[in-house]
Parts: sequence; C-alpha cells; structure tokens
Amino acid sequence: MKLISGTSNPTLAREIADVLDVPLTSIDIERFRDQEIFVKINENVRGEDIFLIQPTSAPANDHLMELLIIIDALVRASAKRITAVVPYFGYARQDRKTGGRTPISAKLVANLVSKAGADRVLNIDLHAGQIQGFFDIPTDNLFGQPVFEADIKDKFSKSERDNLMFVSPDTGGVVRTRSLAKQFNADIAIVDKRRPKAGEAEVMNIIGDVAGRTCILLDDIIDSGGTLCNAATALKDKGANSVSAYITHGVLSDPAIERITKSVLKEVVITDTISQPQKVKDCPKVREVSVATLLGEAIRRIANDESVSKLFG
Ligand code: R5P
Repeated sequence: MKLISGTSNPTLAREIADVLDVPLTSIDIERFRDQEIFVKINENVRGEDIFLIQPTSAPANDHLMELLIIIDALVRASAKRITAVVPYFGYARQDRKTGGRTPISAKLVANLVSKAGADRVLNIDLHAGQIQGFFDIPTDNLFGQPVFEADIKDKFSKSERDNLMFVSPDTGGVVRTRSLAKQFNADIAIVDKRRPKAGEAEVMNIIGDVAGRTCILLDDIIDSGGTLCNAATALKDKGANSVSAYITHGVLSDPAIERITKSVLKEVVITDTISQPQKVKDCPKVREVSVATLLGEAIRRIANDESVSKLFG
C-alpha cells in the first residue's frame, strides 16, 4: 500500500500515515505562472495499491482539480488500484435539481473522479447517502458517529449523560441523530424550520420537550453557522439547560466563527476532515476531534480486503 496526499489536508494525511505506520509517498505539486497545476510523483507506484488523501474543501475547485490531476498521474504511472480518500466531498449539497435549468454538480464531480481513473472512493458522512449511487465504482461512506460517541462519553459527566437530548437541526438529519441517541439511550428532538410566506421570517418549531435537558445538536456540515446558531437559540428559548454541537465537516465560511462566538452554543465539536485556518483554531468555542484513526483503520481494511462495515458494529 502507498499513501499520497494532495495539498488540501496534509496534517490529516500525516496522522493517517502515523496510524498505519506507512510513510507518505513523495510528490511535488506546483503551479505554473498561469496557476495551472503540475504534479510529479517521486517514487515508483507501478502495481501499487494507492490511497490518495484529498478532501475537496475550499478552495473546492482547486482541490478537486488537484485530485483529478494526481489520479491521472497515478493511472499513467501504472498504479494497480487507486482509492480516492475524500473525507469531505465538496459539491455534495448540489445533489438534485433545485429548479429548472440547474445542474446536479455532485453527480458531475462523481463522474469526474471515476473518469479520471479512481477505482474506489472513501468518504465520511456524505451529505446524503444516495450520493454513493452517483459513482459507478465502489464507495465506502464512513460514519463520524463512533468518534463523537467516544468524545461525549469522555467530556460529559454521568449526570449530563443521563439528561442528554440529541437534536437534529432539520428533518434531513433525523436518522443520524437517532442512531447516536440510541448509543446513550437518549431521546431525540427535531428542529422544524418553516417560512410561513416568502419574505417572512423563518419560524423554528421544536418537536420534543427540551426544557431542562442537556442538548446536543448533530449535523454533517456547518457552513455559515446560521442553521446551527439559530437552532441553538430556539432550544434555549424552549428551556434547554445547555446546547452543544457535534458536526462532521467544519466548512466554516464567514461569518461562522463570529456567529458561533456570539451564540448561545456552549461548544461546537468538529472533526479534522477539513484543514482549519488559525481563526478557527483560536476560537475557544470550537474544538476538533480527529478521524485519522477511523480513516487509517478503514484504509487498512480496504487494502486487506476486510469488512469496513464491521468498524461500525
Ligand atoms: C444542510 O442540509 C446541511 O446539513 C447543513 O445543515 C447546512 O449546510 C449548514 O449550513 P449553514 O451553516 O450555512 O447554515
């Protein structure tokens, strides 16, 4: 097996390499003056089982293009099998036509990855499980849940754990929320967002009694932070004791950090699928947990033709 990293998240790639005790393959990734990307793999990869680590986070187009170009270089260097390890799969939210004459960009990106020559794809918490069907190659979609479960057991006291209420910030996240709640024998609540009429303010209804409860919001993505911060306010207004959040992918576009800082949220826990700028690292309300061990173990199992689903019980 060989591990190669693009420039998107080299820290995560190094941590995965440490977990597997496999060095990262040397690669040069450069830019021509006109910003076209050039790559050169500095080691023989002929006949190798390659795992290429490159989340397609912002700048999504650059990171995606780099992923495609490295895959092309690997194909032309006669790699035996290429697994695109894309822990955060950008463009995933454009997974259906939202109106006339609009694209399904998630499908287009899936086509590009397989056309470039990837043999398999490995993701974590894809925005919608059905996106796996956009690929005509095998995909493994890991769940961040075990990482969150361990962290909650570690950071919340016994009395807090006995009082937990897991909350989905929208109806789309209910399955994920119920699954984690089950591990703690806890209840779930759902935030039902409605805009009564176009142009009128959104109304947040909470399905479930959150008064006096230790609430944990769960989501796959935090982008501008609007969904999460508004949901947290609605929970507090309904009497929640405290509101924390566990989110797999910290997209955190502006003004997310300002919103989180001013919000009623006690803490936002994200994973390291996306490399974060200093501004995020400096925010006292945001904490990162690592998915390197989870990814490393999944890569080891794929390389050895072992079950990946066994990782999730
Ligand atoms: C939406 O379906 C996703 O699961 C997230 O809830 C959404 O992308 C969060 O966006 P924002 O942080 O900008 O409200």
